[in-house]
Amino acid sequence: MKQEKMTLDEFRLSELRLYPNATGELSNLLREIGLAAKRIYSVISRNGEPGISDSTDMRNTSGEIVKPLDRYAHQELLTVLKHSLSCAGIVSEEEENILVFNNKGNNNSRYVVMFDPIDGSSNCNNCMTVGTIFGIYRRCTEAGTPCSAKDFLQTGRNLAAAGYIIYGVSTMMVYATKRGVNGFTLDPSIGEFCLSHPAIRCPEAGRIYSVNESNILNFGSAVGQYIKSMQQYNLAYPGFFTARYVGSMVADLHRTLLEGGIFLYPATEDHQDGKLRLMYECNPFAFIFEAAGGMAIDGYREILSIAPVNIHQRTPLFIGSRDMVTRLSRFIKYENRTGSGYPPTCST
Ligand code: AHG
Ligand code: MN
Ligand code: MN
Repeated sequence: MKQEKMTLDEFRLSELRLYPNATGELSNLLREIGLAAKRIYSVISRNGEPGISDSTDMRNTSGEIVKPLDRYAHQELLTVLKHSLSCAGIVSEEEENILVFNNKGNNNSRYVVMFDPIDGSSNCNNCMTVGTIFGIYRRCTEAGTPCSAKDFLQTGRNLAAAGYIIYGVSTMMVYATKRGVNGFTLDPSIGEFCLSHPAIRCPEAGRIYSVNESNILNFGSAVGQYIKSMQQYNLAYPGFFTARYVGSMVADLHRTLLEGGIFLYPATEDHQDGKLRLMYECNPFAFIFEAAGGMAIDGYREILSIAPVNIHQRTPLFIGSRDMVTRLSRFIKYENRTGSGYPPTCST
């Protein structure tokens, strides 16, 4: 008979044994986020039902249309995290302000969580892949007191753990700690996430670029030239590079993590900070990619080094295989030095 795979809980317990002083709070949080994910999955899998992914008149803090599914997932995560008592407060894409769980149990917790409840929700109507993204910080204020903005406005470098759930052909939870990145596939027959992708590494070299190319003329010359250089290369070596863009960053980055490549969401003329949110989209993924050997920059700095000033702030994002992100940053440095882009034929 086939050996059964380790469940998420069993895996966390085996990790906990390595740290005799650990309280198990972080493991609790991961289990609770997993529980919310299973509930969200069960709703998404009935996506054809009327209402779930209809648009509403509501807009979130970033001015984007909110769907009932966004609200449902937000509420589900909020409820399990509050009940778990392992979390002192949350920040969500769907809520303008920090939510402080100001009661005795939650105040004693050492962690706060930031999340994007449904990433790619505009794709839901088309039965396409969506996700949930989360980042977990250890508080810098004292346990026993209500958490505050200070606990959330930490650089990504301070994340204790970060992860995502991808609701695709199968549902997976991938999470990272400084010890590494592991992926768990939901086995619906037992309702458990089971270890399917141990010790994930992002390939050092990639051939896939992932970008909303319709905006290429607004990207600025360095990013534009970088993309053109790959297209130019394909004239000599057809099919060497290829493009893939789902439009749900969870889907695009899951592929990039496993297969290698680069994902770009640059600034444009009218969106100087890009579109993606630093705290609950870019930081968690930057943390995951670095833990897997990849790289994430805003063009100039490592994403994880950005000192946040606002829980909903945006940042340009370039993330993926080390060789591709490094090459792009050479284009950007060249442009800064000379005021013009590399010639598109440049090969390194
Ligand atoms: P969300 O659904 O949480 O608002 O995020 C959507 C994001 C991200 O998932 C995706 O990569 C990006 O928006 C796509 O934007 P464009 O349509 O501008 O390419
Ligand atoms: Mn998102
Ligand atoms: Mn979202």
